[in-house]
Amino acid sequence: MVKSKTQFVCQNCGAGYPKWVGKCDNCGEWNSLLEQIPASVGKSVVARSGTSGKVLGVQTMRSISINEANKRLLTGFSDLDDVLGGGILPGSVILMAGQPGIGKSTLLLQLSAYIAKTEPVMYVSGEESATQVKLRAERLGAEKSEQLNFASSTSADDIAATIRSGDYKLVIIDSIQTLALDEIVSAPGTVSQITNSSNVVIRAAKQSGAAVVLVGHVTKEGSIAGPKVLEHLVDVVLQFEGDRYGGFKIVRAAKNRFGSTNEAAIFEMYHEGLRLVENPSAALLAERQNVDGSVIMATIEGTRPLLVEIQALVNPTSFGYPKRAASGFDLNRLNLLIAVLERRTKLNLSDKDIYINVVGGLKLNDRAADLAICMAIASAAVSRRIDDGIVVFGEVGLGGEVRSVSSADRRVSEAKKLGFTQAIAPRGLTKNIFIKDVSDLRTALIDYLQK
Ligand code: TYD
Ligand code: MG
Repeated sequence: MVKSKTQFVCQNCGAGYPKWVGKCDNCGEWNSLLEQIPASVGKSVVARSGTSGKVLGVQTMRSISINEANKRLLTGFSDLDDVLGGGILPGSVILMAGQPGIGKSTLLLQLSAYIAKTEPVMYVSGEESATQVKLRAERLGAEKSEQLNFASSTSADDIAATIRSGDYKLVIIDSIQTLALDEIVSAPGTVSQITNSSNVVIRAAKQSGAAVVLVGHVTKEGSIAGPKVLEHLVDVVLQFEGDRYGGFKIVRAAKNRFGSTNEAAIFEMYHEGLRLVENPSAALLAERQNVDGSVIMATIEGTRPLLVEIQALVNPTSFGYPKRAASGFDLNRLNLLIAVLERRTKLNLSDKDIYINVVGGLKLNDRAADLAICMAIASAAVSRRIDDGIVVFGEVGLGGEVRSVSSADRRVSEAKKLGFTQAIAPRGLTKNIFIKDVSDLRTALIDYLQK
């Protein structure tokens, strides 16, 4: 046998190095290398002479049947089913990623309890003890489900064997970072443990037809902790986003082999667990006070229109460099929009602190927020309100022009539903009497900021 050689493996991308270096050449991450002993040192792989067809188990596409066993499992949350493309597909592997404390364990226990009313479910936790999970189950009202089973384990082999036994339709693993294989020497949570453990689990899932949900932690920057390859191995990557402390929490599919990635489910956390928000726009607007700097924007969350309030606060800078801060909006984009406002309108913002807040803990990635942000800043800067019945959406270009955005009709119909009377928006392709079209930022501000 060859002398076992240690190797240094980047915990971010999985690249291997013979010697420790401070920066990974492959992904550029600093201080991400950890010493590891490769599992298969000394084993040589000899290619056997393969036989064609029979060994592979070739079938014609026509002969592959979809039977009852392949029916999707409904989660009890209609919107989450939509995100998954119509429920959980048997044999699929789902990775659920999110910040600590956002509600991953809560949501998964709730959906296991729902599915366990009809199908056997296994909840494996490597993080919490049986009593801790039981306490949560009592709080969520999940302990009544008869077919809900629990195990506390961190062994990937044991869990894979349980999955392969075929006794369970759904297996939840909380979390992938706690799993470990005995053959691998490195600590749980390292790249080799995560990759190999998930491979073992995924293979078991595909063989037995049980659906598996893996919980994955995220790093400070918000990406899934561990190797990037993990996202390629699984079928669905769900991202649980939002504010940890109250506010809306959104589940989105970042990848889905069996459905669209355009859907989103919006939840709110209660003592008894997560609940879907029936009418998010109404909930977001319930406490609105129309003061200067407040603008209602029609955005699109997944495929669903949503009205959110954008607030701006503009104060004189007391000394030095003006401060710009945004919660729920990209700061670089905010600085860009401030520059456009200064250059293309007569507003002077160079000696003003500017703060932007998106109400409800939402994060806006929608380009259509530009116009609303600009109008909110202008409204706060000159202390003029925008009429109560107006919603705003549109992209703003560097020339100060207002550009058309997608799904204008859906944004307008949501605004109508909630009793708004006008939309300030780019003209777009279709004529809509509800839309007061604007073509540039300057006229939008002159026309719609009232005394
Ligand atoms: P949890 O599912 O443990 O988060 P994760 O698994 O993603 O780390 O969710 C914890 C949340 O549950 C936390 O935000 C607060 C909430 N919570 C309640 O609302 N009521 C309670 O009694 C407890 C214990 C927690
Ligand atoms: Mg948890």
